[in-house]
Amino acid sequence: MNPFQLPASIIDHTVRDRTVRRLREAGVRLPTFMEMADPVAASLVVEQTVDPDSPDPANLRRVHWHNAADRRHLTETPGYLELPSALTGVPARILVVLGERFPMIGAHKVLPAYACLVVRLVSGLFDPARDKAVWPSTGNYCRGGVAISRILGCRGIAVLPEGMSAERFDWLARWVADPADVIRTPGSESNVKEIYDTCAELARHPDNDVINQFSEFPNYVVHRICTGRALAKVFEHAGRGSSARLAAFVSSTGSAGTLAAGDHLKATYGARIVAVEPVGCPTMLYNGYGVHNIQGIGDKHIPLIQNVMNSDMVVGVSDLSTDTVNVLFNTPEGRAFLAERKGLSDELIGALGSVGISGIANILAAIKAAKRLDLTQDDVIVTVATDGAAMYGSERDKALARDFGNRFDQVAAAEVFGRALAGVGEDHVLELGHRDRQRIFNLGYFTWVEQQGIPLADFDQRRQQRFWDELCALVPVWDELIESVNRDAGTGR
Ligand SMILES: Cc1ncc(COP(=O)(O)O)c(C=O)c1O
Repeated sequence: MNPFQLPASIIDHTVRDRTVRRLREAGVRLPTFMEMADPVAASLVVEQTVDPDSPDPANLRRVHWHNAADRRHLTETPGYLELPSALTGVPARILVVLGERFPMIGAHKVLPAYACLVVRLVSGLFDPARDKAVWPSTGNYCRGGVAISRILGCRGIAVLPEGMSAERFDWLARWVADPADVIRTPGSESNVKEIYDTCAELARHPDNDVINQFSEFPNYVVHRICTGRALAKVFEHAGRGSSARLAAFVSSTGSAGTLAAGDHLKATYGARIVAVEPVGCPTMLYNGYGVHNIQGIGDKHIPLIQNVMNSDMVVGVSDLSTDTVNVLFNTPEGRAFLAERKGLSDELIGALGSVGISGIANILAAIKAAKRLDLTQDDVIVTVATDGAAMYGSERDKALARDFGNRFDQVAAAEVFGRALAGVGEDHVLELGHRDRQRIFNLGYFTWVEQQGIPLADFDQRRQQRFWDELCALVPVWDELIESVNRDAGTGR
């Protein structure tokens, strides 16, 4: 599918009717984009007995940010942590919104996976009886894709680098129909080119549909509409009755889908958009390359769906910092240090387990941005924790052995705190001017035009904000296509 030829009507009625039959048999109702954006208003209620981590079709109704802490009830305000200055060292208020509450995979990447597949399904571009959905990713998106595929009764194939965390592979082994549906590509986090090469091979087979998060605009749209509004709700909740300003939205970039929420927050509150990447692979900062362990981000290229020209700052974070803070946040010794020496509440310390490695990167980048911009206590930064620490126990063990000789005590905890948190500086921070944005935008040319064959005019139209705004006009069109499938399947309201 050419990423720019987004369906706005039914393309193949026969295939779409097969989808309707399948959904009728399985009793599946597909949520619309606007329902996922405001599931409380839409009453997307699910029986409490349905396990949020089971492949139950009812869990489609939990694919949104408004799951309560038990992941079964709805909540008006998405779950978030407010980090105290004792931890961050800056007066600005840093809010971390929790992706861990999403169903089935404990990460928000199930949201773009659903969005990308549903647009195909309701327009008849994907035949669930025949086609296999191929999900290229560094771990969470392919888990989301496999979960959604399974619920909808179609085959899902995960393509991910062999170096990703053991927890990701354990999860996949439990969820795929056939072990052959997990394809390991060479390398680790930054080896996205190798993923593309494998996908190009798979795409030769007509029944394989590669749903590439890096070039699928529904990934952009769903985050701008759903994540953007969810984060706005969090800001409104935290800032109520005060003179709070939303100074910035900070997001590390893998596919850069999440970053699209910034376009909503900038349009609504004037928030700056801060993109985060690993200093071990500083593509936006320095046209650089390399390897790192901030799993989920930093992939040595500029995604097609990244709205580069609307970004305001790029911040680089080191994986030594994120790996060691992962140990600080999730060991008894680290937690004792945070309680006894920094006065953090037990509640907050417990909740730090909801922040995975890229969430830690976001926190460290938010601190850097707050320092660079001299933000005050009236300023709020919103960021996300895509997933929680449960995905990285094996990575913690590696860091414990490599960096601490398996002996992490209070002295080591103080050292990590001093270096990675209290000592955060303004290194690897770039405030973007027009020429900087152009440089980063132009870098995408080599991947998309030269390697992937995107027509130059299509590639270039993404310089204009009008292009991105017009994508959102497709939401009511897609929602009507979804509603009409639900009606025909007898699962509509
Ligand atoms: C753990 C983690 N963090 C961050 C990201 C980046 O999110 P996005 O692809 O929306 O930029 C991903 C993407 O897969 C991820 O899995």
